[in-house]
Amino acid sequence: MSQTTSREIHLISRPQGLPVAGDFKITESTLEPLQEQQVLVRNLFLSVDPYMRGRMNDGKSYLPPFALNQPMEGGAVGEVVQSSTAEFKPGDVVTSNYGWRECFIATPKELHHVSRDVHPLSVYLGALGMTGMTAWAGLKLGEVKAGDVLYISGAAGAVGSVAGQLAKLQGCRVIGSAGSIEKVIFLREECGFDMAFNYKAGPVVEQLQVEAPDGIDVYFDNVGGEFLEAALSSLRPHGRIIACGGISGYNNEKPKPGPCNLFNMTTKRLTMKGLLVRDWLEHQAEFEQEVGGYFKAGKLKHKETVVCGIENAVSAFLGLFAGQNIGKMVVKLG
Ligand SMILES: NC(=O)c1ccc[n+]([C@@H]2O[C@H](COP(=O)([O-])OP(=O)(O)OC[C@H]3O[C@@H](n4cnc5c(N)ncnc54)[C@H](OP(=O)(O)O)[C@@H]3O)[C@@H](O)[C@H]2O)c1
Repeated sequence: MSQTTSREIHLISRPQGLPVAGDFKITESTLEPLQEQQVLVRNLFLSVDPYMRGRMNDGKSYLPPFALNQPMEGGAVGEVVQSSTAEFKPGDVVTSNYGWRECFIATPKELHHVSRDVHPLSVYLGALGMTGMTAWAGLKLGEVKAGDVLYISGAAGAVGSVAGQLAKLQGCRVIGSAGSIEKVIFLREECGFDMAFNYKAGPVVEQLQVEAPDGIDVYFDNVGGEFLEAALSSLRPHGRIIACGGISGYNNEKPKPGPCNLFNMTTKRLTMKGLLVRDWLEHQAEFEQEVGGYFKAGKLKHKETVVCGIENAVSAFLGLFAGQNIGKMVVKLG
């Protein structure tokens, strides 16, 4: 069989503040011939995610830093091209953590079978993938129940838009904030949010007060900063905060002081729980059954923003910090 070449993206310098195109390089490599118990996969879709920004820094965190001058890792959906294992055959569709490259060779335990009958297959990076599972796990962590008033920041993104829809299915009143009128309309008209506002149109604390004059029970935090501060003011006694992400600070060169109104935690007896989706992996089958069921029944919308070509993967990633996506940002290959 002829040799397989693959274009891949390397991190070549650690970004200071907002990453720039020059921190990355696209290169081509030639894959080794397939050995026993190996699978050759051609990627169809790559995921770009805000958490990857943290892996571009040096230093200790919950995931190791990306190695310089190596292909970066990340979620991907691909198709098996060649296999020397019993578990996989050509044509199978799989998910893996071998993102940011066109082709790769893996062992069976690094691959996860998914159905090729689901359309689009990129849904396995979004509503039925890592970000959908984050939304689902977050609602469980926050013990969200029918009747709760839930506020979600970063609501029109991959996690937020699924969290809001799942919360609606559970009987909550859902308020979301996002960075444009188009996103606000998407939340109201496509995701069924009760209320949504454009955080760029005025202070979050004031807009949240208008949308939830009697307060909120749960805050699903994707953004941190001003959004967390506003939620702390609006939360009712015994309210809960699901600490999922803090994208407003990911590119800060120096940490900023935290919310100025943290004393609300005490006076209102609030609970704030940190969420890491990887802690929930043992519940993956339950997630796939429940959320996959909603998706197949047409009760859950998977919205995505698709950028074509591995050569545009870096700009898709940078687009996350400029709000260029509605729903999940994915890169389509081939
Ligand atoms: N804890 C976990 O296990 C876990 C897992 C997955 C994701 N997360 C976190 O969840 C959050 C959402 O992730 P996602 O994959 O769903 O991303 P996403 O929301 O699909 O994309 C990022 C969005 O964040 C908003 N944003 C970017 N910079 C901002 C800023 N400075 N201030 C306010 N909003 C900003 C933009 O929307 P606007 O146009 O609305 O500004 C952008 O579209 C992130 O914080 C991520 O790190 C956590």
